[in-house]
Amino acid sequence: MSIQWFPGHMHLTRQAITDRLEETDVVIELLDARLPGSSANPLLADLIGGKPSLKVLNKQDLADPARTTLWLDHYNARPGTRALALDASETAPTQRLLQACHELAPTRGGLVRPMRVLACGIPNVGKSTLINTLVGKKATHTGDEAGITRQEKRIVLADGFYLYDTPGMLWPRIAVPQTGYRLAASGAVGRNAYDEQDVAMDLLAYLRVQYPAGLQARYRLDDLATLAHLDDEQLLTLIGSQRGALLGKGRVNLQKAAEIVLTEFRAGQLGRVTLETPETFAAWTEAARLADEKKAADKKAREAARKAGSRSR
Ligand code: G4P
Repeated sequence: MSIQWFPGHMHLTRQAITDRLEETDVVIELLDARLPGSSANPLLADLIGGKPSLKVLNKQDLADPARTTLWLDHYNARPGTRALALDASETAPTQRLLQACHELAPTRGGLVRPMRVLACGIPNVGKSTLINTLVGKKATHTGDEAGITRQEKRIVLADGFYLYDTPGMLWPRIAVPQTGYRLAASGAVGRNAYDEQDVAMDLLAYLRVQYPAGLQARYRLDDLATLAHLDDEQLLTLIGSQRGALLGKGRVNLQKAAEIVLTEFRAGQLGRVTLETPETFAAWTEAARLADEKKAADKKAREAARKAGSRSR
């Protein structure tokens, strides 16, 4: 299955980011702490070039703390980059954000040379919630539908410290297949763009190996090792039957079972989970790059063969 979405107002957002970048001192990129690599917009990396960058691993309350540390170390080792982890329970995150931005752009801040930061992130990463906390009131609308923040807004975080908000942005082509599944599982992608059963089964395939305890506890499964003979669809079927997702005559409603798994994963009810490490994400990215290269080479070879064929006729 491929997961493809219509990126909607992406071009406008991209233009807004490009226009604003010239007068930006630090770019804050909100990442989903459960999928930091997959939730990082590759277009943004191209756009921001060498600008100082603050990675905020948001929703850390849902993520595996040990893996969050791995990701923070990974980003903090990059030149011109700082990373910190946050979640909505932190009621006063401003100071930490200000400090990180000052470290990245030490000559900025104050009324003469104000610090101008640009906040970017994929839909549903929690940007509106964070900004509401920063301004201390309901300034932006929050919700679970992709791309709710539509216009750039300027928010004064402190004297001489301005934050510009941009709409949530996805990108048109997912080069890394695992990324598509993870974005769908996290709720960043509109529901029409993917098959919930496929995404739930892909998620279960990962969780049963990496985080079996949360699955076992939530769905009252036996030790998952004893269920190793079940394939992912059979596991989803078992979960559906445990949770009463039935169609009648004992048949399991797989669609309902998939919705249960995805909803409960998003709400953190399967435990604190991170779906990738810097290492696995790098390996997927490299495999995708090689696959793309092979595809391009095959296409070139086919075209050359076609041309040679038409010449010899
Ligand atoms: P966005 O602007 O980036 O699109 O995201 P938004 O703030 O609208 O947040 C998307 C969903 O994520 C919201 O839930 C919000 O409550 C939740 N959320 C935001 N920050 C955090 C966090 O740090 N931890 C956790 N666990 N959840 C967070 P929702 O169910 O879609 O909406 P609502 O019912 O909360 O309004």
